[in-house]
Amino acid sequence: MTVLVFDSGLGGLSVLREARILMPGHRFVYVADDAAFPYGDWEAEALVERMMEVFEDLVTRFEPSMIIVACNTASTIILPHLRSRFDFPVVGTVPAIKLAAELTASGHISVLATPGTVQRDYTRSLISEFASTVNVRLVGAEKMAGLAEHFMLTGETDTEAVKSEIEDCFVDQYGARTDVVVLACTHYPFLTNVYRRLAPWPVDWLNPAEAIARHAKSLLPDGDQPVKPIQDLAHFTGGKPDVLRQRLLSGFGLAIADAH
Ligand code: DGL
Repeated sequence: MTVLVFDSGLGGLSVLREARILMPGHRFVYVADDAAFPYGDWEAEALVERMMEVFEDLVTRFEPSMIIVACNTASTIILPHLRSRFDFPVVGTVPAIKLAAELTASGHISVLATPGTVQRDYTRSLISEFASTVNVRLVGAEKMAGLAEHFMLTGETDTEAVKSEIEDCFVDQYGARTDVVVLACTHYPFLTNVYRRLAPWPVDWLNPAEAIARHAKSLLPDGDQPVKPIQDLAHFTGGKPDVLRQRLLSGFGLAIADAH
């Protein structure tokens, strides 16, 4: 069975690595719509149109049995369209707002996401449904997805830029401080150690990747899948990825899919 894991760029690799651990017998195709990166800046309607075109092509080409949309920005708008178009399961990435509301002791949580995710009704309705009794601060990070990609590819970080992107997450009001930050973009977990170093006080940085993988696994048919030596693939909509990306992908055990 082929599971297609989709993101605008490299962030969905945070979900792929968890999905691989939980579903070792499946073949994975990782897709980055890098020709349209970053999604965080797109208007919703134009982005839906673009993604549906890309998915038509991907489904014809890779014949997946499941799609994991490993991107919060995309998931906030695309899931109903994909589910009505395709018969196989489509798993989305939902900001872990419910879990954050359950975990917080101080009553202050923050949601760090792309500008797109922060604006969407989808995110706002998660807050009113699951976090109406806590204070939620939505923080739109303009550059963090790009900063995370740069770090993944080079190991280098612009700490000042990361610091200014996270500083609004920290609320200190009447002696109560933010204690949970939801990483509501799949790129962000790759910088968690950097956030920890830069944070004015310790918080729980919530990465939903494992929960997404568990949900995906629960939707697949039961039964032990034999672990087969199958080559997992990566496909980039912008064409053959550059040398740094190729190196990263081979570290993740992904071969570049042939151009067609
Ligand atoms: N990885 C994507 C997400 O989870 C967003 C990155 C982008 O802006 O393209 O939201």
